[in-house]
Amino acid sequence: MKSKVSVIGAGHVGATTAQLILQAGIADVVLYDIAAGVPQGKALDMTEAAPLWNVSSLCTGTNNLADTAGSDVIVITAGLPRKPGMSRDDLLQANAKVIREVTSGTAGLSPGAIYIVVTNPMDVMTQIAWKVSGLSPRKVIGMGGVLDSARFRTFIAFALGVSSEDVEAVVLGGHGDLMVPLRRFTTVKGVPIDELLAPERIDALVQRTRNGGAEIVSLLKTGSAYYAPAASVFQMVRSILLDEKRVLPCAAHLEGEYGVTGLFLGVPAVLGKAGVEKVVELRLTEEESKAFNQSASSVRRLLEGMAQQ
Ligand code: LAC
Repeated sequence: MKSKVSVIGAGHVGATTAQLILQAGIADVVLYDIAAGVPQGKALDMTEAAPLWNVSSLCTGTNNLADTAGSDVIVITAGLPRKPGMSRDDLLQANAKVIREVTSGTAGLSPGAIYIVVTNPMDVMTQIAWKVSGLSPRKVIGMGGVLDSARFRTFIAFALGVSSEDVEAVVLGGHGDLMVPLRRFTTVKGVPIDELLAPERIDALVQRTRNGGAEIVSLLKTGSAYYAPAASVFQMVRSILLDEKRVLPCAAHLEGEYGVTGLFLGVPAVLGKAGVEKVVELRLTEEESKAFNQSASSVRRLLEGMAQQ
């Protein structure tokens, strides 16, 4: 039987994610949105492209969450995007409401599903989706680290004039301004970037990575990034559906790992059929731990702020 992926939110990130899944032919996709006609139109358009993509997968558009029943993976992209000058955190209250609604509206219908949360501020939204879903924390995962690492890889590749495919990078922590690109674990074909670039150059690339989402927002002016976010979600979906067990940085529920308990935060994790099958613990230096803890505190503060409202 074909796998089923439901994508909640038919905006740019959601629709592009649906497209990538369909093009790969690894699942049928249900595309949900509250806007009448939009998911239906995009889904039909993509399904009409299927013969040209040489795949037999189908995309169905809907305004009814009941159509997501029996999903293997549910990707939540719904919510307001950032406008220029806004941080990811500015979206907190409005998007929390959306996440609660779509999670409670889907969880009972797909008891075996793994959730991937994309909506910002992503780490907090993942925590909310998990609480509302009632699922095991291993089945709820936030998308951030794959995107942040892809950006870091891209900027390093620009700086060195090499293919970004040959750059390996790890970004830990929250998907926010305090994310922690780990230069010690960032390599070009196994060579640490510390040996290839001066410290100030690396500092600038780290800063550009932290600012990567805002850089796109300020260029687009209306809306935020979607090609790289969708490609990041796709890599996670594929690892889960095909049980690839890729080691991907993503927001996973920490239960003592990295000295943090009860919080979703970006760490390298093995993604397979069961969701987060393992959190990979890197041995951090004191300075790296400090940066990680600062990022954890900022996510915790947002969560506490929410609880008081
Ligand atoms: C970004 C948004 C999606 O980083 O968080 O582009």
